[in-house]
Amino acid sequence: MADLAALPKDWIVTPGQFTRATYSTVYPAIDPTKPKNYLTGKTVVVTGASRGIGARGIAPAFVKAGVKAIVLVATNAANLASVEKKLHNISPAIETLLLSVDISSVDQVAKAWVEINARYDRVDILVNNAGEVNVKGTHSMTQQFLKAAMSWATTTNLAKVINMTSSSAWGVWPFLAAYANSKAAMVSYTTTLAASYPGTVFAVAVNPGLNDTDILPSSPRYAGFNCNDPSLTGGTLVWLAADVDVEELVARKQEITSKNLLTMQLNARLGAKQFAA
Ligand SMILES: NC(=O)c1ccc[n+]([C@@H]2O[C@H](COP(=O)([O-])OP(=O)(O)OC[C@H]3O[C@@H](n4cnc5c(N)ncnc54)[C@H](OP(=O)(O)O)[C@@H]3O)[C@@H](O)[C@H]2O)c1
Repeated sequence: MADLAALPKDWIVTPGQFTRATYSTVYPAIDPTKPKNYLTGKTVVVTGASRGIGARGIAPAFVKAGVKAIVLVATNAANLASVEKKLHNISPAIETLLLSVDISSVDQVAKAWVEINARYDRVDILVNNAGEVNVKGTHSMTQQFLKAAMSWATTTNLAKVINMTSSSAWGVWPFLAAYANSKAAMVSYTTTLAASYPGTVFAVAVNPGLNDTDILPSSPRYAGFNCNDPSLTGGTLVWLAADVDVEELVARKQEITSKNLLTMQLNARLGAKQFAA
């Protein structure tokens, strides 16, 4: 097996670099505290909010961006309570709902949404961040979110779903077969979701890069690769949910969309017509 420790510390970043500039922490264009990123009045549900990127990056960023309410979902109630405390330090007025739920249980997810829907008129944004339960947990959460959102989502008021993927979805990481498979499924799930509800549902899959959390296999840890601060993912998700510009990507919008640069697909030419005389 390759000696990961012999690789450059930025090896996780540079081979997958798409933009000239790279960042490892939140930067001005995605700063959730900037007025243009405000998500005032919105309600967001975040799974995997008790630790890791959800607790340290995503939940704080949405609170900083001014959401009205945040629903924190994970199994560990004590950790959720400690995250809630930190969020109230950021914004004492933030409304919180803590749901200690195993999202791999369809029944628990359904009960959780009864509670969410009783408390809030609508949930604007769903962040499927819990990564150990990628496909089933994400699907159950998304189904319930869509059931509620179909009554209000319009072309000018999109229901937004953000799913977490990983470079293992398209890259090859030995011994990560199950995880890589589930992350590739996340990309495909997200694409299908967006295509199923064109104009009413915004769905996007995000790779947060390497973050030093419990999910990390020991090998990249021992190799000492540079990690992102979870605030980078938090700011990026707020940017996506608030639909504001990130200069370098927006400047390349036409190229990205016309050539499908950031989607996963077969490159083969398919179709019987190509064999017609
Ligand atoms: N860290 C990285 O370098 C990296 C790289 C690429 C992609 N990602 C992706 O980014 C996302 C966040 O990752 P992370 O590193 O913060 O770690 P993670 O292990 O995905 O996050 C753990 C969170 O998910 C919750 N969770 C786990 N199982 C659950 C279940 N059955 N029901 C409800 N909640 C559950 C955990 O809380 P409880 O223990 O309280 O349930 C915890 O809050 C994941 O989707 C991950 O795959 C991470």
